[in-house]
Amino acid sequence: TDLVAFAHGLPKAELHLHLEGTLEPELKFALAARNGIELAEKTVEEVRATYNFHDLTSFLQVYYPAMGVLQTAEDFRDLAYAYLKKAASQGTRHAEMFFDPQAHTSRGVPFAHVIGGYRQAIIEARAEFGIQGELILCILRDFSAEFAMATLMEALPYKDWILGLGLDSDERGNPPAKFAAVFARAKAEGFLLTMHCDIDQEGSIENIRQVIEDIQVDRIDHGTNIVENDELVEAAKARGLGFTTCPISNSFVTDQMKSDEIVALLRRGLKVTINSDDPAYFGGYVADNYVALAEKADLGIEELAQLARNSFEASWLTPFRRDAYL
Ligand code: ADE
Ligand code: ZN
Repeated sequence: TDLVAFAHGLPKAELHLHLEGTLEPELKFALAARNGIELAEKTVEEVRATYNFHDLTSFLQVYYPAMGVLQTAEDFRDLAYAYLKKAASQGTRHAEMFFDPQAHTSRGVPFAHVIGGYRQAIIEARAEFGIQGELILCILRDFSAEFAMATLMEALPYKDWILGLGLDSDERGNPPAKFAAVFARAKAEGFLLTMHCDIDQEGSIENIRQVIEDIQVDRIDHGTNIVENDELVEAAKARGLGFTTCPISNSFVTDQMKSDEIVALLRRGLKVTINSDDPAYFGGYVADNYVALAEKADLGIEELAQLARNSFEASWLTPFRRDAYL
């Protein structure tokens, strides 16, 4: 339809995308074969049959083990290259991509191989598809604050390749405050900051308050529960904070897309953006997410265009480079 073509053609920035969440079953098989790894599932259909998530925890239980096929710098390069190619085909011009180094260093893969492979893909994709890729190092919140700090220290020699620091994985029992010192250090090193405030988590409002008031993030990932608290909505608006929402992902980790919340926040003037989160697992890249939300909430092209404009305004492009898209 017209709306589908419009959503694909709109120049977009993607701001909430986990590179490890772009591992399609076909690439998983190719990497397993290359690395001599025997997988339990033998066909793409068998792999997809394991994607019966009903919450964040059940998703993460499939997500982390799948990363075992990623071993060499070339594997990480191939993963990011495939994503950037796909993203460019859906109208993405700029992607600020999360990566989870601890999910790899904790099983013996050197940090240098992870970031080296991703960096190589970014350079190639820029030349071949005209898409600009950037990296956000994401801390796994279910590991310790000490491991987080050690990972930040390991990343410092690669500072020029990393835009910012994020926080993901299981939020329950792992509030933002646990990582206050790590994020303060990252800020002092010049990193921009963002954190996941996942949907309907226990203590969601308190965690959102911590990321805005205490950690002083530059963006919030998900964060749509802020709709329950007018004071925090006004504070976020006053600061022009971006929110990276993920409609299709929401429908997997909760029982709905949360379209009412997303659209309410957009219409209250928050810098709401639409993103794909873990597209290989949730079955939709960024334009698919624009279309899914538009169909669910009956949005027209003006509001889709607003969401796309927001994606550049909430991006961490420098003002000069950002204005080229607006
Ligand atoms: N890791 C990958 N995707 C995630 C999400 N949506 N929430 C928390 N951790 C994640
Ligand atoms: Zn996420």
